[in-house]
Amino acid sequence: MRYTHLKPFPENFFWGASTSAYQVEGAWNEDGKGPSVIDARSEYPEGTTDFTVASDHYHKYKQDIALLAEIGLKAYRFSIAWTRIVPDGDGEINTAGLDFYHHLIDEIRVQGMEPIVTLYHFDLPQALMDVGGWYNRQTVDAFARYAEILFDAFGEKVKYWLTINEQNLMILQGNALGTVDPKIQNDKKNLYQQNHHMLVAQARVMQLLHEKYPASLIGPAPNIALIYAATPKPEDVLASENYNAIRNWLYLDMAVHGKYNHLAWAYMEDKGFLPDVQAGDDVILAAGKPDFIAFNYYTTQTVAASQGDGHDEVIRGGNKYLKSGEDGVHRGAANEHLPRTQFGTEIDPVGFRNTLRAIYGRYRLPLLITENGIGAFDKLEADGTINDQYRIDYLRAHIHQMQLAITDGVKILGYTPWSAIDLISTHQGCSKRYGLIYVNRDEFDLKDLRRIKKKSAYWYGEMIKRNGLTDAV
Ligand code: BG6
Repeated sequence: MRYTHLKPFPENFFWGASTSAYQVEGAWNEDGKGPSVIDARSEYPEGTTDFTVASDHYHKYKQDIALLAEIGLKAYRFSIAWTRIVPDGDGEINTAGLDFYHHLIDEIRVQGMEPIVTLYHFDLPQALMDVGGWYNRQTVDAFARYAEILFDAFGEKVKYWLTINEQNLMILQGNALGTVDPKIQNDKKNLYQQNHHMLVAQARVMQLLHEKYPASLIGPAPNIALIYAATPKPEDVLASENYNAIRNWLYLDMAVHGKYNHLAWAYMEDKGFLPDVQAGDDVILAAGKPDFIAFNYYTTQTVAASQGDGHDEVIRGGNKYLKSGEDGVHRGAANEHLPRTQFGTEIDPVGFRNTLRAIYGRYRLPLLITENGIGAFDKLEADGTINDQYRIDYLRAHIHQMQLAITDGVKILGYTPWSAIDLISTHQGCSKRYGLIYVNRDEFDLKDLRRIKKKSAYWYGEMIKRNGLTDAV
């Protein structure tokens, strides 16, 4: 649809930016913090740093929050490190950890921004992993207890909560995100059991927050990428529907309706991946209701019908950890209509609108975009500037499509692109930069960790002042 007039962004729209604890904080073993699965890792992809110092946000948070306020952000989305609060996952509480997040949240509020808090972003306590991680049902109780500690501590200061970051990618890309246990034979069956436990855990904490703080709001935060069919061939369309169910709707149907998506269930059943569902789980799952749907959007994906010839799985974006396609289910395909980032990720702003419309059309809940952004090899120029015009182009194109989606009638609460400041990528080091703010360090040379606003930060700040893109339509 081509509109003659675009609807404006709502007043009080959360223009923000996003980070996660382990990717930005550093101080991995300070002030009583326990080790997470991230800290316990001993191997990293060649040429990439570990997470021990990251952007040293733990020590520089005041400066960082001040810079974000200076840019003009209205909201800041970050995650809490479970192991700072409960170092071994389900034992004693570390008050120094609580203190750190009290200071951080107070600072965000003092600077006039809304804190949006993710309970858990990939960094499971290693002590829980040692006894089976999410495969072990006790992790559900540990998570519910951890969430309750956070609600009790920060419930008066935080209104917007997110449950689990990208649960779907922890299941679908477990190799990249550390959820695959190398000792397990049938890793997918194990992963779908982990998935079930996370879904139950999520439902419990959504219900818990509503009981304790009825005015607070909570939602899931999966990575949603609309799946396109490679051609109009009916078999390709069917494959795209199947993969939409397996990749996207399984997670959101469960979060919103408390029921497994029937196509995803049929897939798990046929493959032998059905989880053990305990009596009473259906009641728990139905009782946990989200107030909004948060999701991360980077790109769409394209699939064709499976050929069943052993070559359905393809590597995506030149990144050996990220694969698409599964024999007998769907074949991963490239989308020749889309340009790519330096890291091979397809760029699809129109797909953002498609994805927003698809989610809103299915669930009719307000949406919050918790991640969106471009990873690039940014360059610090001799004059001390970072001219990341490609990031401005990327953000502008996505913001424009978001406004079109708003004009389509989609309700959107806010947009917190990835990332507020440079941080360590999940598995491609710190040279793959996403930030609005540059952090002066290399993979193995910490330099001075100086913060410098990139050109995109100035552009984003101006755009926020105008509450939208007066220059781009
Ligand atoms: C999301 C994650 O998958 O995308 C972030 O929630 C991550 O933690 C971001 O950093 C970008 O991905 P990557 O692999 O380039 O760091």
